[in-house]
Amino acid sequence: MSAAEQKTHAAAAALEYVSSGMTVGLGSGSTAEVFIRQLGELVRGGLEIVGVPTSEQTARVAEESGITLRQIDHVDRIHVTVDGADEVDGRFQLVKGGGGCLLREKIIAHASDLMVVVIDETKLKGQLGEFPLPVEVDPFAFTITAKKIFDALRASGIAHGDVKLRRRGDGLEPFVTDGGHYILDCACTSIPDAAALSDRLLHIPGVVEHGLFIGLARVIIVGEDHGARVME
Ligand code: A5P
Repeated sequence: MSAAEQKTHAAAAALEYVSSGMTVGLGSGSTAEVFIRQLGELVRGGLEIVGVPTSEQTARVAEESGITLRQIDHVDRIHVTVDGADEVDGRFQLVKGGGGCLLREKIIAHASDLMVVVIDETKLKGQLGEFPLPVEVDPFAFTITAKKIFDALRASGIAHGDVKLRRRGDGLEPFVTDGGHYILDCACTSIPDAAALSDRLLHIPGVVEHGLFIGLARVIIVGEDHGARVME
């Protein structure tokens, strides 16, 4: 069975965490999009929720799905956020940002009572780091920031940490996030201590945020061929 079907199963299981009256953080990426479209069907059937989007793309999908949206500054509370991930380890630590939305995703996850992560089986890892770690940086002096990130990777025991500026599909212009920042993708191979790397990265002035989500996810839903496995 395909990863697409596993995503559908994971998204369907995440709907159990949503009920009428809730404000729901809406993640970004293909798995979150499946969840949002399924949530839209429930909304059309009478479920009353308000969504808080983590990206412009997600806002478009949610609007198409008939979900009422609010910006985060206009809600008192976010009851649950459902989002995807690029990698998840056994300690519920995540790598996110493959779609370039990690800053807003992290702000909204951090502001939520509960973060539920929906993934297909390929995202589960013994150790994080196979997926290049996205780091969102200010465009000002990004080459200096890239060197500092390289040093932080080395100091964290990541010997081959190659740091690359993400470019748009045409390969010519840098990719720019919804917040106007660049993304540096760091090929790590493995990240032995995610918390230590997180601290080092956050001490670099040009780093806006990084894609390591530590201590945020409380529920991981893994889509499988014939259903979904919920880990709490
Ligand atoms: C977006 O920036 C990311 O954090 C996504 O949540 C992550 O890349 C997972 O996306 P997919 O569900 O498309 O794999």
